Amino acid sequence: MDPVKVGLLGLGTVGGGTVNVLQRNAEEITRRAGRGIVVTHAAARDLNKPRICSTEGITVTTTPQEVVDDPEVAIVVELIGGDTLALDLVMRAIENGKHVVTANKALIAKHGNKIFAAAQAKGVIVAFEAAVAGGIPIIKAIREGLAGNRIEWLAGIINGTGNFILTEMRDKGRDFNDVLKEAQELGYAEADPEFDVEGIDAAHKLTILASIAFGIPLQFEKAFTEGITKITREDVTYAEELGYRIKHLGITRRTDKGIELRVHPTLIPERRLIANVDGVMNAVLVKGDAVGPTLYYGPGAGDEPTASAVVADIIDVVRVLTSDPENRVPHLAFQPDSLSDLPILKMEDVETAYYLRMQAKDEPGVLADVTRILGDKGISIEAIIQKEPEGDSTEANIIMLTHTVVEKQMNEAIQKIESLDTISGEVVRIRMESLDAS
Ligand code: NAP
Ligand code: HSE
Repeated sequence: MDPVKVGLLGLGTVGGGTVNVLQRNAEEITRRAGRGIVVTHAAARDLNKPRICSTEGITVTTTPQEVVDDPEVAIVVELIGGDTLALDLVMRAIENGKHVVTANKALIAKHGNKIFAAAQAKGVIVAFEAAVAGGIPIIKAIREGLAGNRIEWLAGIINGTGNFILTEMRDKGRDFNDVLKEAQELGYAEADPEFDVEGIDAAHKLTILASIAFGIPLQFEKAFTEGITKITREDVTYAEELGYRIKHLGITRRTDKGIELRVHPTLIPERRLIANVDGVMNAVLVKGDAVGPTLYYGPGAGDEPTASAVVADIIDVVRVLTSDPENRVPHLAFQPDSLSDLPILKMEDVETAYYLRMQAKDEPGVLADVTRILGDKGISIEAIIQKEPEGDSTEANIIMLTHTVVEKQMNEAIQKIESLDTISGEVVRIRMESLDAS
């Protein structure tokens, strides 16, 4: 049988890695897929740019529409990024009856509902394993491996760049911007690195995971997103003194009132495995009712780790080319006409515990005022430490850990604390999760 012909849109970090893996492992891949797979066409912006892969035998164009329209190409692999040109190209590929593989989480999180409906109508596959957690096969694990479970919650470190920055800052005391620059050089970061450090990329990925876990439409616009840019060295140190690590987590949980969908820095007990996931590594903790807690760990970004997921999707597509289109694994794990309308909770309705840090005048009664405000809002304190003023400063740092409370109550308490004359500046608030598997 003739090899299946693949058209690549993009020859950058992931595109280059994909060519390398397909070429290097061609023999094993053919044995697994049942047919050879060759990249025959590719698109890039600059034909003279040095590449991390060989382009011998590949027709390279600066017009990606040519790849999408080429009748020889059976599978279009979108690795350009963004959600404008990429959306047009993917919709056009589907319209042309081609199967699509993409690593583009922004595209799926924002336009997946429309893309999957079009793919369903055309009977083609849109595969996107590489869009979440780089090389970790988390989509396959949830969609297929855990298909017998009612998923209760999942929490993950799902941005490699952010975790790399936090780890280097904590372990080596490196400067934020310096580490970000290195992450960009290593090919980890998004074209706009704000997506990484402000949590947007993680929110894209979490949106996808929530849909697959709970059988709900993709609703990126309802995700709560807070990045890592405001985390200071002192918060990292105080958290560690209290037995916690700060990780940038995506958390989604089924509750009686709806679905939590949130990305923010989070204190987690340092004894949890996920608290010790460092560098560019990602990890996703999934709690199913039958299996209990399961943890998936691996590289979250980079050329070949991501290509590993892209190539697995290409192989899946090749394997099902001959199977019944009505009987394929659904895009969002649940049958399209069986998606649920569970609401996504507003952040103010979410219940969580908190780490609070505030700068207080070193005067009697300050602590009593703060604890009274918290008490009035029904917020109980789990631990408290006071750091005496250093040098010429007259202000002490008060650090508190609270028990769980609805975020709205905490917002109101923080507002009141910030209005005290004895408290200066903003109260630092970092949410805290026990990630207890019971
Ligand atoms: P990248 O290195 O910037 O590569 C993008 C590629 O697209 C480049 O080859 C670029 O051409 C090409 N391109 C951009 N605009 C084009 C246009 N108008 N016409 C033709 N080609 C165009 O990006 P990447 O890191 O590989 O990321 C690609 C996708 O994978 C993104 O959606 C990203 O979110 C996702 N992803 C990345 C990683 C990672 O670790 N990097 C991991 C998982 C998922 P030139 O090379 O000529 O500029
Ligand atoms: N920029 C992303 C990250 C790439 O650092 O996790 C992988 O999705």
